[in-house]
Amino acid sequence: MFLGIDVGTGGTRAVVVDRNGRVLASRASEHAGIHSEHIGWAEQEPEDWWRAAKEAIAGVLAETAGSTIEAVGLTGQMHGCVMLDADGKVLRPALIWCDQRTQPECDWLNEKIGFERLIELTCNPALPNFTLTKLLWVREHQPEIFAKIAHVMCPKDYVRYRMTGEFAMDMQEASGTLLLDVTGRRWSAEVAELAGIPMSWLPRLFEGPEICARINSEGAKATGLAAGTPVAAGAGDQGAGAVGMGILAPGSVSATIGTSGVVFAATDTPTKDRLGRLHTFCHAAPGIWHVMGVTNGAGLSLRYFRDTFGAGASYEELTAEASKVPAGSDGLMWVPYLFGERTPHLDAKARAAFVGITASHTRGHFVRAVMEGVAYSLKDTFTLFEELGIPVKSIRLGGGGARGKLWREIQADVYGQPVELLEAEEGGAFGAALLAGTGVGAWASVEAACAATVRVAEVISPSHAAVMAAGYGEYRRIYPALKTIQGA
Ligand code: XUL
Repeated sequence: MFLGIDVGTGGTRAVVVDRNGRVLASRASEHAGIHSEHIGWAEQEPEDWWRAAKEAIAGVLAETAGSTIEAVGLTGQMHGCVMLDADGKVLRPALIWCDQRTQPECDWLNEKIGFERLIELTCNPALPNFTLTKLLWVREHQPEIFAKIAHVMCPKDYVRYRMTGEFAMDMQEASGTLLLDVTGRRWSAEVAELAGIPMSWLPRLFEGPEICARINSEGAKATGLAAGTPVAAGAGDQGAGAVGMGILAPGSVSATIGTSGVVFAATDTPTKDRLGRLHTFCHAAPGIWHVMGVTNGAGLSLRYFRDTFGAGASYEELTAEASKVPAGSDGLMWVPYLFGERTPHLDAKARAAFVGITASHTRGHFVRAVMEGVAYSLKDTFTLFEELGIPVKSIRLGGGGARGKLWREIQADVYGQPVELLEAEEGGAFGAALLAGTGVGAWASVEAACAATVRVAEVISPSHAAVMAAGYGEYRRIYPALKTIQGA
């Protein structure tokens, strides 16, 4: 049996998976939340991830008592910047993926290295989400903390450190730091030097299924796992999620709606967008890459609507109201830029909006419009794939967007092709467990692990594709129009 641990944004989940891909136990523990001192800021305490990881692991170990965990794999929210001193102490709360404060640092990198050169070196542009920009913010604003940094890592790699005492990172996660030579699968000495970041701060790099550490005695005491249990490098949530969904060959694509929304395609070579609108990362499996487009506020849009305007209604009640509304929401539209936007606008200042409200619109219309707007925003990535010649043969759905019937149907309608629903619904944690199993030889490769464990449960065909294609045309006109009133 293999243990996958997903250090997410809202909480940490642990799952135990067997060789047939059966989920034997699954337990989540919530995080304390996101601390936001100013608009656009987002921080979390690494110690809280570790607390949640310990609780989630204890939960699944109790459920599978008597069986042996053969290997552990890690995944989690990407891009967060965790800074430790030479004694391994956390120096300040981590700036996490959705923190938007670092546009000035992005501008500085573009000036210092050049927009095109940065894409040549790392395959990606400077975005406030990426780790390096957060590190540069600390240098600029908290030099006394910056001076003490000895180790930098992403959230799940901090949990690895607490379990094993080792500093390690996988290639897929490292791709989202803006410090990786994504084509060469090694740290970019050139970017580190130009940005002024010592290479000694960066963890050792491994491929996703590689065993990079073992549970040490302190980790064993804290988690209940056996000392010496092998720990695989794993991957960021998107990389591990794609493994869990079997997205490894060109043509296979996933659309995942979690807090953020991601359309993810596997590729044989690093496929760069000259304009940097897609992320081009190493995949979690050795020797392959992926591209992905990201909507910052996907599931977040629905949560925001529920919490702010839902008057105590549950998701089920809100989506039941939305199900009664026709496709296209009688002209009401939502653009989901609650946290600025990555794909395709690369605009941290973009803002969300409802457009086209009339007095006959009900709350159900608003809910449906939110769900449609999120799907339109993911559709923007499919449009870019078409432009760049990235094939889309099948689409598999993941995250909260796969769980409810209505959002599944909306996605099939908006993407204009059938979408597949999978049997296992555990997202990144499931993929991390597969990477761990591959690392200890349970399967010959990540591809073999997916072939043995990932199964399609249902295929949903579009039934309102024409209406939604027309709606998408309208949706595309909203962002440029909003820009004229929100300023450049
Ligand atoms: C991916 C991304 C999100 C976070 C949080 O680029 O920013 O998926 O990893 O889930």
